[in-house]
Amino acid sequence: MKFRLKKSDFIVIGLALAVIIFLTRLPSPKDNNPPVPADRAHHGIKLEKDCLFCHVKGGERPLKERHPKRQDCFRCHRVEGA
Ligand code: HEC
Ligand code: HEC
Repeated sequence: MKFRLKKSDFIVIGLALAVIIFLTRLPSPKDNNPPVPADRAHHGIKLEKDCLFCHVKGGERPLKERHPKRQDCFRCHRVEGA
């Protein structure tokens, strides 16, 4: 009896790979990053570009040098209490 992969085996392998790729592309674990505080400065901000009003060089609270240079804040920062 010879060991051979059937067509259905390739489908299973393909699906497994798809799941792995999907999982590695999920956003970084937000729970470990500092949350957006639920205070007045942060209340009701829907647009991520509004975050840069304060979190920008020369703003009220500039980001650190090594902070990721990305605009999709909510991908990494959950809102506290939400
Ligand atoms: C009106 C100015 C202002 C705006 C707009 C603003 N922030 Fe802030 N942010 C601050 C200040 C000041 C602090 C530090 C004091 C505090 O905890 O509230 C802070 C703190 C934070 C912290 C926590 C930092 C830490 O050390 O734990 C995060 C995360 C954050 N902001 C993300 C955001 C995001 C994301 C947005 C857009 C939704 C945003 N901020 C919009 C002023 C602002
Ligand atoms: C790729 C994930 C990611 C994205 C996107 C992201 N952050 Fe962060 N942010 C982090 C991590 C991780 C930390 C904690 C870093 C540390 O402790 O130095 C952090 C820390 C912060 C802090 C507090 C410490 C500091 O650097 O001043 C603020 C404020 C903040 N982020 C705001 C923002 C804002 C505003 C945006 C959108 C413009 C944003 N972040 C987008 C991952 C991210």
